[in-house]
Amino acid sequence: MLGAAATPSSTTGARVRLEVGDRLGGGAGFASGLTSTLLAGTPWSAEKEGALSTEAGPQPARGDTGISAAAVLSRLRSAGVLPVVELPSPDVAVPLAETLRGAGLEVIEFTFRTDGAAEAIAAVRRACPDVLVGAGTVLTLAQLEAAIDSGARFIASPGFSPLIVERSLAAQVLPLPGVCTPTEILMALEAGLEALKFFPAEQAGGVAYLRSLAGPFRTTRFVPTGGISAANLGDYLAVPSVLACGGTWFVLKELLAAGDFATVARLASEAVRVVKEVRGDARG
Ligand code: 3PG
Repeated sequence: MLGAAATPSSTTGARVRLEVGDRLGGGAGFASGLTSTLLAGTPWSAEKEGALSTEAGPQPARGDTGISAAAVLSRLRSAGVLPVVELPSPDVAVPLAETLRGAGLEVIEFTFRTDGAAEAIAAVRRACPDVLVGAGTVLTLAQLEAAIDSGARFIASPGFSPLIVERSLAAQVLPLPGVCTPTEILMALEAGLEALKFFPAEQAGGVAYLRSLAGPFRTTRFVPTGGISAANLGDYLAVPSVLACGGTWFVLKELLAAGDFATVARLASEAVRVVKEVRGDARG
């Protein structure tokens, strides 16, 4: 079950906003903490990085450990790069998370493109509690439920589903829906969100498109994903609205299937170095 608010009735962003505001006190507060943090322009460096359970806020639902939306986004911002993982096998999850952590990356997204994503999320939550783990390619309510039950701390989707957003908020798990147009961004803003995945980033217009969105959408933060690589990572990170860049280029399924963690570690370390170069060593 997804909680008392899981009534499949809303189909528009405005409807979601009203329902979230009216019915989901905890969920609305969960999102609005993020909104107020971003609107207030609080320096990210002032955030409690790694504050997984110490932030004030609503009590966690369904066994989550109480990380706030602001803390999740702070962790993403701090990492600068979000590994988007399609696992060849759930067994790879923990060694991969450990490899990435060794390279300086303590965030990971397991996509529901393969069976075993939920198992992988739960395994990494258990084995690497300091790693921020989320679910990706969440397309259905069944996948959402599995992701939440496994302990995912954010829910990434390639597109904007008002229902997935609403139910994620109801469970106090951060939704990171994909957007590609100003209309979709407006829908997400109406649902109370201020941080969104921008997908497919490179194919949709890349850095120039992202910069143009900053005109009207001044406080919205983005996680561009799709077509990002070592070659353009720095250009994306230099865009002020970019929270973190998602991608598969350093966690390719082929590398994972071959057990080539040395290459993963090398590519991940290079990505971390670019983050430091572009944002400064303090990653602020
Ligand atoms: C995603 O699922 O977020 C993207 O497909 C990742 O895109 P990439 O493989 O181009 O990094």
